[in-house]
Amino acid sequence: MAYNKVINKSNRTFERTLSYDKYTDPKVLEKEMDVIFSKTWQKVGHVSQLEKEGSFFTTEVANEPIIVVRGQDGVIRAFYNVCPHRATKLEQNESGKKRILQCGYHGWTFKLDGKLNKTPNFRGEDAACVQDACLRPVRMEILESLIFVNLDDDAKPLAESYGDFFERLSKFPFLGELKRTNVKTRHLKANWKAFVDNYLECDHCHVAHPSFIATLDMNAYQIMTCENYSVQASSVKPDKNYGSVELDEAEMQGGSFYWLWPNLMLTIYPGPGNMATIQLKPIDHENTLIVYTYYFRDEELTQDEKDLVAFAEQVRQEDIDLVELEQIGFRSRAFERGRYSSSEQAIVQFHEMVLEAIDK
Ligand code: FES
Ligand SMILES: [Fe+2]
Repeated sequence: MAYNKVINKSNRTFERTLSYDKYTDPKVLEKEMDVIFSKTWQKVGHVSQLEKEGSFFTTEVANEPIIVVRGQDGVIRAFYNVCPHRATKLEQNESGKKRILQCGYHGWTFKLDGKLNKTPNFRGEDAACVQDACLRPVRMEILESLIFVNLDDDAKPLAESYGDFFERLSKFPFLGELKRTNVKTRHLKANWKAFVDNYLECDHCHVAHPSFIATLDMNAYQIMTCENYSVQASSVKPDKNYGSVELDEAEMQGGSFYWLWPNLMLTIYPGPGNMATIQLKPIDHENTLIVYTYYFRDEELTQDEKDLVAFAEQVRQEDIDLVELEQIGFRSRAFERGRYSSSEQAIVQFHEMVLEAIDK
């Protein structure tokens, strides 16, 4: 074990956290990009973004430009968004609908299944020489309408990568009805792992999130570590009122807050069908782009849904402020590591996974 175990007089084990240089050293992030972000399933979108043939969106995974497109045959595929002729980034738009993809440099065109279409500067025999120059595919899988890609050709299939996580999600039958309704991004002035640490414990909830503890029954709050993911769950306080909306059994359940190795969080609050994902995209070792994506049944949010978004945003801002303060301390010489409380087993799991990946 790469961190210190400290045993106190009552013989209880207190483990020390990841050393703080893991949050402040640019070389650590470089390694994480190589051995973590380039080898894990990364959520890139939702099928509701690709409803029509020819619809596409572009994104980045571990600094690689990626395009995800629904072909004329209805099949969704992912490719590196890079031209095989001379590496130019192919599609510049974030999203749209096209019959053909055209490179802006020498005008090569590609069908939506990635096959080469036309090569204006290679004609006749020249064209025959480059006909195998197709877009390079990326592994892609869709579960519960969420689209994931993995840059590692040897990675396990998505469904096998997260234990029984997708079975758990299937208990929320409304998920298939949800659409991606809005996306918000925030710039976090902290290392991506500090945000995960914050998400994985609720010891801070009583101090920092008064609205959260007023809504959820904190006596029933549980944290469970599972295979490559963890879940925090609570029941909703019995007096919470959802107006005249009729809720099914799954909607009556309490909040469920999942974390998926390494950088994805997924939350389902009690109340009318909803889901949100939080994805962390490191900008550098001390700056992170947080992408919050909300999913509801309809793009026009009801008042209840707007209230839920406002509630979630409030809690999130409280967390961001704390994590940025923590990053200041990571840079200090005062301490080298933190300590875990006995209810922080999900952070222990996360840290063990980080160390296992980067120490290889
Ligand atoms: S780089 Fe794309 S056509 Fe030349
Ligand atoms: Fe929090």
